[in-house]
Amino acid sequence: MDFKLTVLPGDGIGPEVMDEGLKVLNAVAKKYKHTFKYQYGLIGGCCIDKEGVALSPAALAMCKKSDAVLLAAVGDPRFDDPKLPVHPEDGLLALRKGLGLFANIRPVKVAPSLVNSTPIKAEIVKGTDFIFIRELTGGVYFAKPKKRWTTPAGIRKATDSMTYSENEIERIVRVGFELAKNRKKKLVSVDKANVLLSSRLWRQIVIEVAKDYPEVEVEHVLVDACAMKLILAPTYFDVIVTENLFGDILTDEASMLAGSMGMLPSASLAGIPAKGTKIFGLYEPIHGSAPTIAKQNIANPIATILSIAMMLRYSCGLETEAVEIESAVDKVLAAGYATIDIFKEGNTKLGTAEMGNQITKMIGG
Ligand code: IPM
Ligand code: MN
Repeated sequence: MDFKLTVLPGDGIGPEVMDEGLKVLNAVAKKYKHTFKYQYGLIGGCCIDKEGVALSPAALAMCKKSDAVLLAAVGDPRFDDPKLPVHPEDGLLALRKGLGLFANIRPVKVAPSLVNSTPIKAEIVKGTDFIFIRELTGGVYFAKPKKRWTTPAGIRKATDSMTYSENEIERIVRVGFELAKNRKKKLVSVDKANVLLSSRLWRQIVIEVAKDYPEVEVEHVLVDACAMKLILAPTYFDVIVTENLFGDILTDEASMLAGSMGMLPSASLAGIPAKGTKIFGLYEPIHGSAPTIAKQNIANPIATILSIAMMLRYSCGLETEAVEIESAVDKVLAAGYATIDIFKEGNTKLGTAEMGNQITKMIGG
């Protein structure tokens, strides 16, 4: 099959991990006789440098004409000053909103060979395998009013609004049920319904949508309790669905279960995934641009490589090819190869490019 992809390497370690991801994708393409055509675009600090905005309008237009988008990372400390009018992260938010990517899927799976490489006890993380679904285009990130002002008395104030409409909640909750239906049929919905009105509406919609999925068992967990339970008993979870900000925070926490942020992929979809459908999506590692380790060939490319596997699964309808990449990663890790972030005694330490090469070799490229 033929696919047209937009590739956005971004900032920091972005370009180097993207190179490895494409190396692996090219090996899969060759083995299974597919063609992937790449068009490159600008986002983040590198885009501010060249075009003065965080997302190139040309890149956004290109994304809209693609089957899927691959993104590595945005962020650059040169633009950290909160007083600056434009920040690299604005590009990512504009892209999510501009492409209607409301469903962010972040699988958290601990490779058996990494149970001793996480900051958490092996007996707790062992067997962790859940999918986190984060609402991505609503809530406090986007809802209005969102502003900053000074009162007549000279007091500076700012506000963001955690507003959700019922249809925004319903579509993301359906993503949760659809994925839960094909896994262990257990959905955890995370909210703060003991305090927030937006969470009470959220919970009510979950209860309503649940009627369409009688085979799925639903549990409502408060966000603070969920933060605790993720560390206490991560194997308790199978599919978790939550709103934008809660999901942002909890998925960084959850990434520690997998040993390193360098291990976790993500998919941001513009529709509800169901078997046999191809959905437009953007695929990116959950880590940031890690500027302090950029251009040293030490970043872990696995999160990007696994994001490409997710692209094959959700946007290309190529499940076998997706599994091929995932098992190649598992085998390379089981053979004791590790980048510095997941390295432990007895491992063979690899650089970014060498890790990409090992995974490519495992696929037969
Ligand atoms: C993420 C990131 C982004 C977010 C930032 C870079 C805007 O932390 O994808 O989780 O907050 O959504
Ligand atoms: Mn985040």
